[in-house]
Amino acid sequence: MTEQIVILDFGSQYTQVIARRIRECNVYSVILRYDTPAMDIAAMQPKGIILSGGPSSVYAKDAPMPDPAIFQLGLPMLGICYGLQLLAQFLDGKVEPGLKREYGKGALQVRDSFCTLFANLPETLQVWNSHGDKLTKLPAGFKSVAVTENSDFAAIENHDRKLFGLQFHPEVAHTPQGREIIANFVHNICGCGKNWTMRNYIEQAIETIRTQVGKERVILGLSGGVDSSVAAALIHRAIGDQLTCIFVNNGVLRGGEAAVVREVFVRHFRIKLRYVNASSLFLRRFKSVTDPERKRKIIGKTFIEVFEAAAKRVGKVKFLAQGTLYPDVIESVPIGGNPSAMIKSHHNVGGLPKRMRFLLVEPLKCLFKDEVRELGLELGLPREIVLRQPFPGPGLAVRILGEVTPQRLNILRNADQIVVEEMKNSGWYYKIWQSFAVLLPVRSVGVMGDERTYDYTIAIRAVESQDGMTADWVKLPPDLLGRLSTRIINEVRGVNRVCYDITSKPPGTIEWE
Ligand code: XMP
Repeated sequence: MTEQIVILDFGSQYTQVIARRIRECNVYSVILRYDTPAMDIAAMQPKGIILSGGPSSVYAKDAPMPDPAIFQLGLPMLGICYGLQLLAQFLDGKVEPGLKREYGKGALQVRDSFCTLFANLPETLQVWNSHGDKLTKLPAGFKSVAVTENSDFAAIENHDRKLFGLQFHPEVAHTPQGREIIANFVHNICGCGKNWTMRNYIEQAIETIRTQVGKERVILGLSGGVDSSVAAALIHRAIGDQLTCIFVNNGVLRGGEAAVVREVFVRHFRIKLRYVNASSLFLRRFKSVTDPERKRKIIGKTFIEVFEAAAKRVGKVKFLAQGTLYPDVIESVPIGGNPSAMIKSHHNVGGLPKRMRFLLVEPLKCLFKDEVRELGLELGLPREIVLRQPFPGPGLAVRILGEVTPQRLNILRNADQIVVEEMKNSGWYYKIWQSFAVLLPVRSVGVMGDERTYDYTIAIRAVESQDGMTADWVKLPPDLLGRLSTRIINEVRGVNRVCYDITSKPPGTIEWE
């Protein structure tokens, strides 16, 4: 059984970050709901438990509480922020509202250099705090091992029972040595080795896929994006020709996209691929449509039709593979005490109609995005696919404002290719979340040579982001912006003006639509 650490989620915005930090230590971690029964946790044989932070107060009426029996499992435990307060609450300490909220950077003084959590770390550490309540009386058997200006109990330890609490957040980047603290916990306190690697995962996943699928056929909708590509390469390694990938050209792909996918998957990996060129069907349906929501609906509906027809031609198929990731399946903890489980909508099988009943194969569903990329490289996929920026399912249709026509698509494809090329050449492409061109179908006057022009505008968007939920526009160097403008206007017929979008999200969205 894979060594693992269980994280009980009490609703912190950082719970997934804790899980990722642990995996960066090459230790597997799983996130469970805060009230998962102790029996279920014991059955998983974890090497330790982390109690996450959370927005509640432990003494609030509807505060999320763990099964009290988890404290009797005899496992090492680390409580972070709200988690530390739970340790105190359940083990006879005392928590009270602090006089002032401690929020932001603080200096931690380690008082007990023998505490394993702080092994090989300096006596003073920069840490990140975000809490209102405060521990005022230590739980039985605990001692304070580190303090901050505001707290005598910033880190506490029960040495004999291997129980630890931290008032600050070791998982966030603002606690620069937090990784070492987490590494000390998982390796030196819980005794985990470094067995969680993508190389090991491949072996394990292949076994699981073979057992699940047997001799049956599997289909997978390949989009050329990172997730479906990695899923395809992994499943193909497990079951070879039992996998058929279906790639639908919806007419709003980037330039060269279909060619890259065929080159990589057919020529290099020798994966069975059905390439369905449905461009003209999609484009016919886009005619005179300007409303972005209508465009999305047309794409969704038409995709299902085309995919379904292609799937039927594969023959009798029992399984549908999807590149679902871990963040899509983690149950979110509802804040405000309503414990009704919120399972995310991916269970609807990506919007496929009910008549298409498949069993799901989801070999990436315990992985984070950065792990999927690592897995992709390990499987031999090219960097161009594994490290590519996100590209929306509705493709260039959401980057052409107004009606999508073949002429506009042609203009945008050419401009987009220049953006990708220049971003890659200057080294910016892989540093940021997304960079792309948008076609604004308004005409303005320009002059080229001796001639007056009356052409479209291209807007360039480049954003930094962690997850696409919020984003900042990137301060690209002026000479790069200049090169983009010159090349687009010189090389793309139909464009005489280039603008740079300096809107963050919020208030803007990333795509213009
Ligand atoms: P917005 O425009 O909502 O985009 O700020 C956030 C992120 O999501 C991507 N995006 C999509 N991805 N299907 C996708 O697969 C879609 O319909 C879609 N719409 C937006 C967008 O590129 C950005 O990374």
